[in-house]
Amino acid sequence: MTVDGKITTRNFSPVDFTSREDKLHLFRQRALADAVLIGHTSLKRDNVRLSLPAELQQARIKRKRAPAPLRVIVSNKGRIDSRLKIFQSASSPILVFSTTRMPRKTQAALGEIATLHLAESDDVDLAEMLRILRSQYDVRAVACEGGPTLFRSLLERGLVDQLNLTIAPYMFGGTRAPTLTGLSKQFLPASVHLRLIDMRVVGEECFLSYRIKRQRRR
Ligand SMILES: NC(=O)c1ccc[n+]([C@@H]2O[C@H](COP(=O)([O-])OP(=O)(O)OC[C@H]3O[C@@H](n4cnc5c(N)ncnc54)[C@H](OP(=O)(O)O)[C@@H]3O)[C@@H](O)[C@H]2O)c1
Repeated sequence: MTVDGKITTRNFSPVDFTSREDKLHLFRQRALADAVLIGHTSLKRDNVRLSLPAELQQARIKRKRAPAPLRVIVSNKGRIDSRLKIFQSASSPILVFSTTRMPRKTQAALGEIATLHLAESDDVDLAEMLRILRSQYDVRAVACEGGPTLFRSLLERGLVDQLNLTIAPYMFGGTRAPTLTGLSKQFLPASVHLRLIDMRVVGEECFLSYRIKRQRRR
């Protein structure tokens, strides 16, 4: 995030404004998880594979874990392009949580390369998704890598335990570039209270970790 709270530009371009250290930090956090979660727009815009560097995969194998966390994509509409890079990387299984709004053609194409969980409802129930991840895939720790729309939905439902935030030495300004909780003009249903648990300065960046204080029932 920039100093003025922006996580990308107004064009949602795949901006690269953090250091190599921050990228390593992201990989290390990813390596701790059983599953890594991403919203459809971030996947599309950044065209990420969500895999891990070889040394982090080796370290996981030594700890008797799968080489990389499961990769989980969330989309209500389900119009996901099967040519995205994530589907060309076999680093770990891919799960897609979407709805039966996903076009039949897409269901057929993605069904070959990922496991589809399609709800009959219009929207994905995120709490139910986490229950499925736990009961069917033995997932205990999920690392959500955004974007802000998905993060905000999880936050609103009280499904976030921890926030890892890197402040990079930039300011973008403007109102059309999303903040950490997106572009919505609406307030959160209740203000979220966090507890700072770690703070590290490396170079010109500040690496923060917060626990989210529970206020509402899940
Ligand atoms: N600086 C950073 O650290 C960082 C991190 C991540 C992303 N980003 C940036 O964030 C931008 C994208 O922001 P965004 O808010 O549009 O991204 P997003 O949260 O990744 O994607 C939004 C889309 O994800 C799906 N989605 C989100 N919440 C959902 C829910 N509760 N249930 C079901 N589906 C859900 C929907 O897909 P459908 O439309 O398919 O239904 C929704 O339109 C990109 O430019 C990316 O580069 C920055």
